[in-house]
Amino acid sequence: MVGARPNFMKASPVVSSLIELNSRPLLVHTGQHYDHEMSQIFFQQLGLPEPDLNLGVGSGSHAQQTAALMLALERAFLEHRPGRVVVYGDVNSTLAAAVVAAKLEIPVAHVEAGLRSFDRTMPEEINRIVTDALSDLHFVTSPEAVDHLRAEGVSGDGVHLVGNPMIDTLLRFRDHLDIEKARSAHRLPDRYAVATIHRPANVDDPIVAKGLVAGLRHVASRLPVIIPLHPRGRIVLSEAGLDDIAGVRVVEPLGYLEFMALMAGAALVLTDSGGIQEETTVLGIPCLTLRENTERPITVSMGTNMLVGADPDRISAAADRWLTDPPVGQVPPLWDGLAGQRIAKFLIEG
Ligand code: UD1
Repeated sequence: MVGARPNFMKASPVVSSLIELNSRPLLVHTGQHYDHEMSQIFFQQLGLPEPDLNLGVGSGSHAQQTAALMLALERAFLEHRPGRVVVYGDVNSTLAAAVVAAKLEIPVAHVEAGLRSFDRTMPEEINRIVTDALSDLHFVTSPEAVDHLRAEGVSGDGVHLVGNPMIDTLLRFRDHLDIEKARSAHRLPDRYAVATIHRPANVDDPIVAKGLVAGLRHVASRLPVIIPLHPRGRIVLSEAGLDDIAGVRVVEPLGYLEFMALMAGAALVLTDSGGIQEETTVLGIPCLTLRENTERPITVSMGTNMLVGADPDRISAAADRWLTDPPVGQVPPLWDGLAGQRIAKFLIEG
């Protein structure tokens, strides 16, 4: 079951490994993300099979969206009676599928289980906690996540440290990323930065958005910054002055391959995304995370990630530091391109 942009890169290696093992999962897309560049382009580029079902749920407030997701998923699960439901990450589709499946007594496997920011103002944290509580199989990307599950009373045979399926997808494409093409398509010089901002905590509050824009203005005074902007933050960030900074290029959301190529060639990445913290760690690109916490601390302790919040002075000082003296990180254990295979094996062998 997939629903939103970050799910597709996580599901792709699991689905293809299941197919290689002669198992054909029913692929359900809830339609939480529906714009071409937020959804379909990922299916095309990753070679994911067309979804067997597209529930077309779309956007709404958290309650509206989650309720609509649950109604549509309940109909689908009752009709198709799956023997197991596999959910990915922490989006509202993940939570909705876990709740519906658990109440229909269908076992749930959670891919990317046990991550915790310990910040319940993040909708994703609520989704992660509920999904893990309802799952009987937990596929974990990072050792500390096993401890989080244990602390919440989830342990034993169902918890498997398997590596990171989103990194499987990155490693699959890494050698084919066309950095030159992506750079020239956006008229970028050799040295440039990439930024993404979409989290409610950053784009719903105009004062926070102003601080971020001030930080980006400083970075843009040193090198051009390209920002593929999620639709969610467009209005508030524009009102905070994002479009008026010389050196900042705001563009539409990009497909997976173009975005990865731009990141792979960047001197610096600034982001509030979860997945990008992991991808920059593997690419060895300095990443400033525009948040006070992360559910992926291994990217800070081992990788090339630093938490800088939304304060312009912290952002500027950290950018100055890492543009002159970039960090050297390591790739976390088992982020080796084989997580999808490990997960598929556990799913098939039970
Ligand atoms: C969701 C996830 C978030 C993830 C992000 C990645 C939840 C709670 N949040 O946030 O964890 O990091 O996806 O992108 O599930 N919209 C469009 N076109 C689309 C999809 C959304 O224009 O195809 C706009 C709509 O105005 C919508 C808003 O974006 O209301 C928010 O979409 P939604 O799916 O609710 O959450 P995201 O912010 O995308």
